[in-house]
Amino acid sequence: MRIVVTGGCGFIGSNFIRHLVAVRLDAEILNLDALTYAANPLSLAGLESNPRYHFARVDLGEFGPTQSVIRAFAPTHVVHFAAESHVDRSISGPLPFARSNMLGTANLIEAVRGLNAGVRFHHISTDEVFGSLTDDGKFDENTPYDPSSPYSASKAASDFWVRAYAHTFGMDVVITNCSNNYGPYQFPEKLIPLMILNAVGGKALPVYGAGANVRDWLYVQDHCEAILAVLERGRTGETYCVGGDSEMSNLDVVHAICREVARQTGKTTDELTQLIQFVPDRPGHDYRYAIDASKLKSELGWAPKHRFEEGLQETVRFYLEQTEWVNSVTSGAYREWIARHYGS
Ligand code: NAD
Ligand code: DAU
Repeated sequence: MRIVVTGGCGFIGSNFIRHLVAVRLDAEILNLDALTYAANPLSLAGLESNPRYHFARVDLGEFGPTQSVIRAFAPTHVVHFAAESHVDRSISGPLPFARSNMLGTANLIEAVRGLNAGVRFHHISTDEVFGSLTDDGKFDENTPYDPSSPYSASKAASDFWVRAYAHTFGMDVVITNCSNNYGPYQFPEKLIPLMILNAVGGKALPVYGAGANVRDWLYVQDHCEAILAVLERGRTGETYCVGGDSEMSNLDVVHAICREVARQTGKTTDELTQLIQFVPDRPGHDYRYAIDASKLKSELGWAPKHRFEEGLQETVRFYLEQTEWVNSVTSGAYREWIARHYGS
C-alpha cells in the first residue's frame, strides 16, 4: 500500500495517519498538506523519524506541484481530506473554499488520472451536502443533494466532480459522507474544542440562536476505522454514509461539556453553565443532521464504538493535558478569528 493522504496535518487527517501507522505496518504514507491555519504539524509529532512516513508541503490549488509529487510517489491509494472545513469562515470569506475544495479536488484527481494505473481514490465528504433535516428522518446514500452554505456547496461540487471522473474515465472512486467529528487534535474554532477551552479558561460559551440545532456526533477514531474499511473493502463507485448514532442539540452538548470539564478540573458545573451566552445565529444555519449508516454497517461490518460520554471524556482530557499543542494553535491568527467572529 502506497497511500497519499491529503490534509494530513488537519484534524481528521492526522488522526487517520496515526491510525494507519498503527494498523497497516506495510503502508508507505505521503502526507500532502498546504499547512493552512488549520494545520498543526505537532499533531503528528514523533512520526518525522518514521521511515514509512513522508511529508510534502503542496497547495492543491496549484496543478503543477500537485502533479509532480503525485507522479514521484506513484500511490496505490489516495485519501483526500484536504479542504477548508469551517462553515462560519465560508460565510465570512467564501473564496478560499472554492479554491481549495473545488479547484483543489479537480487538480488532485486530474493528477491521479495521469498515472494511468488502478489507483483507488477515496474522497472524504460531509453530510452537509444533503442540506438540513426537520425533526424526522435521516440522511442516507439516496438522499438528494441540497447544500446550503458556501462550504457545503463547495463540498457537493467536489463530490460531483469526483463521481464524473469515475463515470467518464472509469477511475476507482469511493466517497464517504460523514457527520460531525470530535476528538483529539481538532482546531478550536469548532463547537466542541472551542467550548472546552473557553470553559477551562472561564470565558463565555457562545451558543448560536437558542442552541436547538442538532448534530450527530462521531468520535474521530470511529471515523478513521470507517474510512479504512471503505478504502480497503468498499465497492468501487459507491458512496457510504458514516454517522455516530449520537444525535444531540447544541445546548445539550454544551451542558455535557460543562459537566465533563467540571469533573476533570474540580470547577463546579454551575459556574461553567453560567458562562453560556446565547449569541446571534449563524446565517442560513442548517437545523438538523442525522445519518443512517446501515449500508456501511451491513456491507462492511463497521459500527461506532464510542458513546458520546466516553468520546467526550477522552477529548476533554486531551485539551487539558496537551498544553503545548493547544498553545501552538491558540496564538495570533486564532485570536484574530475569535475577536473578529465573536466580537467583544
Ligand atoms: P481541518 O480544517 O482540520 O484540516 C484541513 C487540512 O487540509 C489542513 O491541514 C489544511 O492545511 C489542509 N488544506 C486545506 N486547504 C488545502 C490545500 N489547498 N492544499 C493542501 N492542503 C490543504 O479539516 P478536518 O476537520 O480534518 O476535515 C477533513 C475533511 O473531512 C474535509 O474534507 C472536511 O470537509 C471533511 N469533513 C469534516 C468533518 C468534521 O466534523 N470535521 C465532518 C465531515 C466531513
Ligand atoms: O456535519 C459535518 C460538518 O460538521 C463538517 O462537514 C464540517 O467540516 C464541520 O466543521 C462540522 O460543521 P458544523 O457547522 O456542524 O460544525 P461546528 O462545530 O462549526 O458547529 C456545530 C454546531 O454548533 C452548529 O450547529 C453551530 C453551533 N455552534 C458552533 C460554534 C463554532 C455554536 O452554537 N457556537 C459556536 O461558537
